[in-house]
Amino acid sequence: MALKHHLDVKVRFDQQVDNSASYIVPFIEHTAALRPGMRVMEVGTGEGGVLVPFINKGCWCLGVDLAPERIEYANELLEPEVAAGKVKFQCINIFEKDFYSQYKGSFDIIILKDVIEHVPDQEKFIPYLAEFLSPAGIIFFGFPPWRMPFGGHQQVCRKKWLSVLPYYHILPDFLYKSILRAGGEHPVIIEELMEIKSTRISIGRFESIVRQSGLNIKYKEHFLINPIYKYKFGLKPKLQWKPITFIPWFRDFLTTCVYYSVGK
Ligand SMILES: C[S@@+](CC[C@H](N)C(=O)[O-])C[C@H]1O[C@@H](n2cnc3c(N)ncnc32)[C@H](O)[C@@H]1O
Repeated sequence: MALKHHLDVKVRFDQQVDNSASYIVPFIEHTAALRPGMRVMEVGTGEGGVLVPFINKGCWCLGVDLAPERIEYANELLEPEVAAGKVKFQCINIFEKDFYSQYKGSFDIIILKDVIEHVPDQEKFIPYLAEFLSPAGIIFFGFPPWRMPFGGHQQVCRKKWLSVLPYYHILPDFLYKSILRAGGEHPVIIEELMEIKSTRISIGRFESIVRQSGLNIKYKEHFLINPIYKYKFGLKPKLQWKPITFIPWFRDFLTTCVYYSVGK
């Protein structure tokens, strides 16, 4: 069952804006107060809505994404801001040499919201991202830990029962795939879900990659109820009960979203 926000670009854009203003900006400001002139890059920007509150605070923003159609929407939805030079959107792989030489060491804030769990080889990707930071810069990561009830992103399934069934994404690949096939899920969706499974990331693995990359965790918040569930399911966002956040492995099953600020 596809949710409305998957079908309606403007709805998704508005949700990105609201989520960013209500949760991401206040979270980042625990570590770095936003000031006009700051340089912000969002990797996996989608329609660009997350950047709107940063643009409104006078930051210069760059949004990059691998999906050309989403960059087109971003350029349309933020046409006046793009024309005014407040934001730029690029469909580009940040591993390209020219991109690296143009932007190395130049961002005060880098944002990855619901993106790191889609990226292969995070052990290489995270230290590479850090090369784009200014000396006091921070990277914001927000993502659903792999073992949470819907960490497989199964909500994208077109078959309703497959989209609301929790935890079955944790089964071995062949069993997970068999259930999706037996449930009549579309092959394209099955392929997408298997790809997400291959790039899965847990809280412990994320923290250990951050440390191995020579970065420090400056601030973190774990959520029992992900802030974006407000739009998806009408639920009130809720932080995780603190003692659970200290229990490795177990916490992953009950934590639907984590936010991290990391820096050098
Ligand atoms: C789930 S969407 C999140 C979009 C947006 N950040 C939001 O929160 O609504 C993930 C986005 O990341 C993009 N993406 C995945 N891997 C990427 C990469 N290596 N570089 C840039 N974008 C990437 C995808 O194309 C997709 O638009």
